[in-house]
Amino acid sequence: MFKFTALLALVSVVPSLVNAQASLYGQCGGIGWTGATTCVTGATCQELNSYYYQCLPPSTSTTHSSSSSVTTSSKPTTTTSSTSKSSSSTSSSSSAAPSGTPAAGNPYTGYQVYLSPYYAAEVAAAAGNITDAATKAKAQSVANVPTFTWFDTAAKVPTLGTYLSNAQALQTSSGQKQIVQIVVYDLPDRDCAAKASNGEFSIANNGVANYKAYIDSIVAQVKLYPNVRVVAVIEPDSLANLVTNLSVQKCANAQTAYLECVTYAIEQLNTVGVYMYLDAGHAGWLGWPANLSPAAQLFSTLYKNASSPQYVRGLATNVANYNALSAATPDPITQGNPNYDEIHYINALAPLLQQQGFPASFIVDQGRSGVQDIRNAWGDWCNIKGAGFGTRPTTNTGSSLVDSIVWVKPGGECDGTSNSSSPRYDSTCSLSDADQPAPEAGTWFQEYFTTLVTKANPSL
Ligand SMILES: *[C@@H]1O[C@H](CO)[C@@H](O)[C@H](O)[C@H]1NC(C)=O
Ligand SMILES: *[C@@H]1O[C@H](CO)[C@@H](O)[C@H](O)[C@H]1NC(C)=O
Ligand SMILES: *[C@@H]1O[C@H](CO)[C@@H](O)[C@H](O)[C@H]1NC(C)=O
Ligand SMILES: *[C@@H]1O[C@H](CO)[C@@H](O)[C@H](O)[C@H]1NC(C)=O
Repeated sequence: MFKFTALLALVSVVPSLVNAQASLYGQCGGIGWTGATTCVTGATCQELNSYYYQCLPPSTSTTHSSSSSVTTSSKPTTTTSSTSKSSSSTSSSSSAAPSGTPAAGNPYTGYQVYLSPYYAAEVAAAAGNITDAATKAKAQSVANVPTFTWFDTAAKVPTLGTYLSNAQALQTSSGQKQIVQIVVYDLPDRDCAAKASNGEFSIANNGVANYKAYIDSIVAQVKLYPNVRVVAVIEPDSLANLVTNLSVQKCANAQTAYLECVTYAIEQLNTVGVYMYLDAGHAGWLGWPANLSPAAQLFSTLYKNASSPQYVRGLATNVANYNALSAATPDPITQGNPNYDEIHYINALAPLLQQQGFPASFIVDQGRSGVQDIRNAWGDWCNIKGAGFGTRPTTNTGSSLVDSIVWVKPGGECDGTSNSSSPRYDSTCSLSDADQPAPEAGTWFQEYFTTLVTKANPSL
């Protein structure tokens, strides 16, 4: 009897010991977190952002700065990466780069898209603040939809390793191959046509070299996990700016650096087998008939000049924008553009790319495209009022040109503040079709998220 009691006592102690300390790379705090707040020996609990504290090795440095970007067409977002259930180390294997030959066909086929634990934590916290039970349940389900992770500062890159490590562990334990989706977004003089740029690098201050070091650090992380597939969107807005905005002085000044930097990015990411889609704006930008040929020319020249990297799979469109892949009827703001939605744009651009030897497969962001006809002008991009989550990511796209519908922009993260006193204010965020008051770019916008949930189409 005594023995039995002792055994019970032991059993009851073991789980509490396990729960008392989070494992290396485990979550150890953040808004809404109820688990362990201390870490196993050798790790310290560090704040990645207000929603996510993580047990990291002492040497790991992290930042949790928000970013924003503002452009004529899309805005970036911030996402700090993190991990929750990795068992051991960041240097799981030191192996060579994948062989130089990409898999034939759609890189998404046969793969499951890895869920960002950071976005899942943001969504869980947001759902916790919703009182209506039905809406709360819908909100919670958004945590299961994969989004991209934006590496918009160099300081965030070390956390890529934790994602890859987690994805590798999940792949091993489940037998289901994983894709990690990232956005490469840190060009010097970023967002050259915007009213306010938040890029950390400037061309005048060593920006090209800094950018190359940023790319090198991504490559170094990817190289450690050769069994995890990585898909990257390359530099939202930048090449589209070179097509249409060279009359803006900052864009003219940045042209040479953008080309050199993007060339370096695609050459280097190619060596470690990252499947790449270069950002190509959207139907209301490069989809205007006069812009199609110049766009195809730029993409194909860049590609060939970089020795035609085999892992460049094509283009990403509608990143962080609101256009439908296939609109029932043209939105009045499209003003007669025959390419009034993303599929018309893609069908018009693809043959021009193919003629020049550029691979023409696409991914299309539909994260916030659930509701149409809600903008006053096609160029409006900031926290558009009444937007709803759109088609869930799928390879069932209805077009052989489109590899996957994706959610690049994590819905709920703000596009930009409506506070005109803020140093990062962009007047686009105070237009009458922009939801206000809006917090700083990249921070959580609870009211906006709730609207995305309730207006989701298809519904959640
Ligand atoms: C950049 O080009 C787009 C597309 O032509 C245009 O709508 C926008 O006004 C331009 N931006 C600036 C700052 O000139
Ligand atoms: C061609 O590649 C070189 C680097 O090899 C780069 O500096 C240059 O900007 C590229 N040109 C174009 C048009 O992409
Ligand atoms: C607007 O921004 C200014 C400057 O950053 C700040 O002092 C002020 O508190 C902000 N107002 C609101 C309502 O957030
Ligand atoms: C959510 O609720 C928590 C706890 O009540 C609160 O601290 C937090 O500010 C709320 N967040 C939002 C975005 O409403």
